[in-house]
Amino acid sequence: MLSKLAAVETNKIGKNVQMGEFCVISDGVTLGDNVTSHPNVIIESWVAIGDSVEIFPGTYIGKTPKGTGATSCPIEFIPQVTIGNNCVIDPNTVIDYDVVIGDDNLLGDGASLRGKARIGHHCLISRYVSVNYNTRTGNHTRVMDLPRITGDCEIGDNVFVGILVAATNDNSVFNGEYKNEKFTVPQIQNGAIIGSGASLLLGVTIKEGALVGSNAVVSRDVQPYDVVMGIPSKVTRNLKDRRQ
Ligand SMILES: CC(C)(COP(=O)(O)OP(=O)(O)OC[C@H]1O[C@@H](n2cnc3c(N)ncnc32)[C@H](O)[C@@H]1OP(=O)(O)O)[C@@H](O)C(=O)NCCC(=O)NCCS
Repeated sequence: MLSKLAAVETNKIGKNVQMGEFCVISDGVTLGDNVTSHPNVIIESWVAIGDSVEIFPGTYIGKTPKGTGATSCPIEFIPQVTIGNNCVIDPNTVIDYDVVIGDDNLLGDGASLRGKARIGHHCLISRYVSVNYNTRTGNHTRVMDLPRITGDCEIGDNVFVGILVAATNDNSVFNGEYKNEKFTVPQIQNGAIIGSGASLLLGVTIKEGALVGSNAVVSRDVQPYDVVMGIPSKVTRNLKDRRQ
């Protein structure tokens, strides 16, 4: 049922769609079957949402970019957002333009996905996670509460990122220059685990099955199945026999 107090401008609506009060669904939006949009959801016209997606109050999908010159990254506005089937999008999530999200994903309260983000299938992007521009995850990956995943980051399948992790891509902040070609982003390969509060410095690769201990500062690549911890992080053992 569509609330009379919702502004629904699109006619591309599947069967059994529920729409709460004060939703604004722009002309051009596609909603699949069995979509539930709770009150106060805003969806811009370039958004396509699959079947059986539930969207909680305060969420904004398809946010337009605004550049005031204050941001260092130039804006390339590509008006498309695709959200797969069976996703749940919790309250106050913000999804920018040019984002593609696969099936069976859970986005936690206040998650923020910036332009060109790509999320695979069956992932958890938990509460207040910030996924920066052009970051990609594989499938069955879990990012717990509050990490900041830097732009261009590549995250594989079955990765676990603990609470409060920080991934960085840029040292040029110190001389005030924005030079895109100087960015070197961390990569997190399949099955890697990043412990809570760890800091991944620019350009490091956390290789398959590696484990980064809580609060480690990782300044060098971590080899497959190695455990590292400390500041700067050092290898303490290898888990290859236990994790394969
Ligand atoms: C790395 C980790 C898995 C432990 O690995 P481990 O090899 O089993 O280490 P142990 O517990 O046997 O400890 C070995 C030594 O390292 C120390 N140590 C353990 N974790 C450490 C860490 N993160 N940083 C620094 N030292 C650490 C221990 O105190 C111990 O020191 P000691 O030999 O002087 O007593 C664990 O400490 C960790 O960081 N887990 C991540 C937890 C997490 O973030 N979960 C997700 C929540 S969302």
